[in-house]
Amino acid sequence: MDKIRIIGGNQLNGEITISGAKNAALPLMIASLLSEEKLILNNVPALADVKQLQKILENHGVEINILENSDDDDMGGQSISFDAKTITDTCAPYELVSAMRASFWVIGPLLARFGEAKVSLPGGCAIGTRPVDFFLDGLKSLGAHIEIADGYVIAKAPKGGLRGNRVHFPKVSVGATHTIMMAAVLADGITIIENAAREPEISNVANCLVAMGAKISGIDTHTLTIEGVSKLHGANFAVLPDRIEAGTFAMAVAMSGGNVLMKRGRTSDLQAAVDVLIEAGVEIEQEEDGFRVIANGAGLRPIDVETDPFPGFPTDLQAQYMALMTRSAGVVNIKETIFENRFMHVAELSRFGADIKVDGQLAVVSGVARLHGAQVMATDLRASVSLVIAGLVADGQTIVSRIYHLDRGFERLEEKLRRCGADIERISD
Ligand code: EPZ
Repeated sequence: MDKIRIIGGNQLNGEITISGAKNAALPLMIASLLSEEKLILNNVPALADVKQLQKILENHGVEINILENSDDDDMGGQSISFDAKTITDTCAPYELVSAMRASFWVIGPLLARFGEAKVSLPGGCAIGTRPVDFFLDGLKSLGAHIEIADGYVIAKAPKGGLRGNRVHFPKVSVGATHTIMMAAVLADGITIIENAAREPEISNVANCLVAMGAKISGIDTHTLTIEGVSKLHGANFAVLPDRIEAGTFAMAVAMSGGNVLMKRGRTSDLQAAVDVLIEAGVEIEQEEDGFRVIANGAGLRPIDVETDPFPGFPTDLQAQYMALMTRSAGVVNIKETIFENRFMHVAELSRFGADIKVDGQLAVVSGVARLHGAQVMATDLRASVSLVIAGLVADGQTIVSRIYHLDRGFERLEEKLRRCGADIERISD
């Protein structure tokens, strides 16, 4: 099993090309099921989760072709065509869905276009039980008949197809918003989604659906109004830059010190996190083709954070921020409000000598002067990269194991950091 070895102490200088966003690429790929014409996606990141979803879509009968591989130099992402003209199977089996939870979202397009879907319940994961009740209630509001048997959701649209309706989510849900939006674009009539997620990835998908002929208004707001159309045509669309990757590398520079341009990064996509870093003492400036992060590597000011749906502080940057604050010049309160078990990185960060106390959804981090290199284990995608961030400044050697978690969501992470001066390499057992 691959591991990552880091020798701490080097500053980061240069530039990092931000890849296409995993959390936009996945729903965009699923949107290809909505049309019998080709959807071409550009700037698709080469990630394990993307490859896994390709398997699921091919299992439905989608023809997938890599038109252009990511160019080694500018790491410009892949161009991939998705042709869902002939769907042979509307079932998404357990062995595929359980490997990548977001594949559950295929239930929306399959129901909308084919009137039926049999999709395995995705199950929980390390960070939480991850229920899908908002998805099922939303689909029922659109007229779907939902049955659950043997771990599968068996969904059927009414004879005339799904019908537009008002859907209100009790809590903001990214996946449920994507799924109901994709179901509604082919429903008969108007659907109004209230308390919709408004992450930049939702807007990226909504804009792609509009490019395919969908009628959606209220994009970027908490209320989406969708007027169903009879069919969608193909499109040629680009995945937006990954704000979570950009925020992760910004925290790496804040930790190690240095001066790095996050090429293609847009501060407006993660303004809450940018504001916290600036308040903590990091210099961040938007430039023409990205944003620049400058830090001196000394302990930062302790700034409390509470995760929140967009435009709040992203839960997907919580672990990275906690790593950064282990060396803050004081005590920091970090509250996780989205997932019930997203502090598994605490035990691993403590192995570096960090001082963190957890009380339910609150982690209290007391900054220490130095971290010591350690052998640590990745437990979930974003926790894994928080260990890399700690390793960048820890004295001596750090070995991070189980980095298959990392490969799910970060493209060539160690290569991007090494190019900026980090002493980091991937080693095989
Ligand atoms: C998406 O997950 C992201 N994944 C997550 O990123 C991200 O952390 C999360 O949104 C929050 O921003 C992808 O986009 C592929 P939710 P999702 O539905 O859609 C509860 C990463 O690291 N809920 O917004 O699954 C749920 O339990 C991943 O890239 C219900 O109760 O998250 C959670 O407490 C991790 N019932 C809250 O809502 C439902 O039916 C928000 O979850 C659905 C959700």
